[in-house]
Formats: sequence, structure tokens, C-alpha cells
Amino acid sequence: MTAADTAESTRRNIILTADNLDASSYLLDEIAVGRLARPQLVYMDPPFYTKRNYTVKTPPGFPQPDGCFVSGEAPGARAFSDATGGQPFGSYLEGLAARIRAARDLLDISGSLWIHLDHHAVHYAKVIADGIFGGPDYLMNEVIWQYKSGGSTKKRFARKHDTLLFYAKDPKRHKFFPLTEKSYNRNLKPYRFKGVKEYRDEGGWYTVVNMKDVWPIDMVGRTSRERTGYATQKPVALLSRIIESCTEKGDLCVDLYGGSGSMAAAAEALKRQWVSIDENPLATEVTKKRLAARGATFTVEER
Ligand SMILES: C[S@@+](CC[C@H](N)C(=O)[O-])C[C@H]1O[C@@H](n2cnc3c(N)ncnc32)[C@H](O)[C@@H]1O
Repeated sequence: MTAADTAESTRRNIILTADNLDASSYLLDEIAVGRLARPQLVYMDPPFYTKRNYTVKTPPGFPQPDGCFVSGEAPGARAFSDATGGQPFGSYLEGLAARIRAARDLLDISGSLWIHLDHHAVHYAKVIADGIFGGPDYLMNEVIWQYKSGGSTKKRFARKHDTLLFYAKDPKRHKFFPLTEKSYNRNLKPYRFKGVKEYRDEGGWYTVVNMKDVWPIDMVGRTSRERTGYATQKPVALLSRIIESCTEKGDLCVDLYGGSGSMAAAAEALKRQWVSIDENPLATEVTKKRLAARGATFTVEER
């Protein structure tokens, strides 16, 4: 039996309906009694302080091929509210700080935290996380997720990226597995440098290099097969990159703001253990259906 097989046989996947602070202390208790591994990855995709309400919209042709379907919910049902109701920015940041601290406490010594935000709050999150982790040396990358989507304004450049802050609990011991990407040659012609392998596809000549920190990845579009209808759903391709770069088969990945369960779906496909937490029962309902349709085994809990 290989190490990966052993990890497989002890895997424990959980869908948890709870506030993520309560859930984090529950997970810490489970870790303390040996019922749960320490996570190698914690992913946080919190509300961005956009002051908007988000909905669950049943897309045409629902249920989707992977079985996502929010039973009994009218199209347009409220999924979650992003700091509406007058939550002051200060208390939003305090909440974020508490979750970043909880995430760090959960992590294995070789683990990492990924915080996904946009221009509204990412600069504050960086200052807060630098303080919690011990300084800017703990920030491994600021990854730009670049996407195309409809909508722009004449008042400024179109905003078409999110920022992901990648922190290592211990920058000397953190797991990291470099990924690679194609780098197209200038003028798309061969360089013919000695010792450099070159390839060609329909786009032209390219070399293979270590992946950079700007990631062009498509959003989950209206007609995408992975679309669940849960607003703010992130693409599995994005989560897969994060998981593959920072974890190994059998490792535990925790999503503190699970939403439609995109991180769980990616972790399941990559044979990692996963815990997906959301305070909104609609979100955990979508996650349950999504993961069940993939043949995943998991427990469903409420706190
Ligand atoms: C931006 S969405 C996450 C989307 C998710 N990454 C996906 O791909 O579907 C944020 C989620 O956080 C949840 N949430 C907000 N505050 C929370 C809290 N304190 N505890 C648990 N979940 C929370 C919301 O219900 C919402 O589903």
C-alpha cells in the first residue's frame, strides 16, 4: 500500500452548515482528538464588500450534467448578502481578520492559506495577514486571476481581475509544487537557443516555463457545464491550480466560504480530502448535490 492509498482509506470529507469561526474551532477540536488531519490548504473566498445581494439563478436546462440543482428554490432566490444592511467597513475587516487568524491556526506547518478578494479589500487583507503571519516574507505570491466578462464603464478601465494572496504558514517548510505553462516566443518563431526545447502548436512556437503569477482563466459562463447558478461561483480550473501547487494526494483542503462547493469539487477530482463550510443552507444544498453527482462520499453536518 502506498502513502497515497493509506491517505485515501482515512479520508474524511465534510459539508458543514455553520458560521466559519464556529466551524474552525470545531475542526480544531476534531484535529486535537485525531479525527481529522491538519489541513495543507485553507481557501477563503469571502464576500468582497461589494454591497450587493447575490442570488441563486437556476440556469436554462437545469439540472446540469453534474446534477447541480437547488430544489424548491425559485430562480432569483437570495444566495447571500455582501455587507449590505449597513455593516460598517471596519467590522467587515474585523470579521476578516478573525477568519485569517482562525485559518492560520488550523493549518499544518507545511500548509498555506489562499485569500481571494478584489480591489475593494485586498490591500487591507494583505496588511492584516502580514501582521497575523509575521510579516511580508510569509506572502509567497499575489496571484492575479484575469478573466473576461461582459460589462464595462466609460469612467475607468474595465475591472477584469481578482487577487489571490498566497501565504505560507512557514516559508521554509511549506509544500509547493511548481506548475508549468507555455511561453510563446517573440514573433512566434523558433529561437533555436542551444539546450532549450521548443514546441509548436496552432498559436506558434513556444517553450515550457514555470508558471507565472498572472492566470488567465475563463469565468464560469452562462453556458458552462459546471455552472450551478450560485452567484460568485469560481471555476474548478482556478481551484485545481491552487490545490495542485500546494497539496498532495490525500491532503486535507478546507474552504471557509464554500458557496457552491467549487473547491470541494476540484479537491474531489484531485483525490484530496476536503471540508466545505458555508453558513447559508442554500449553499451547502448546492454543494451536496454537486458532490453527490460526482460520486463523492461525505458527511453533512450542522453547527
Ligand atoms: C463569494 S461566495 C463563495 C463562492 C464559492 N467560492 C464558489 O465557488 O461557489 C462567499 C460565501 O461565503 C458565505 N459566507 C459569508 N460569511 C460567512 C461566514 N461567516 N461563515 C460561513 N460562510 C459565510 C456566503 O454564504 C457565500 O456563500
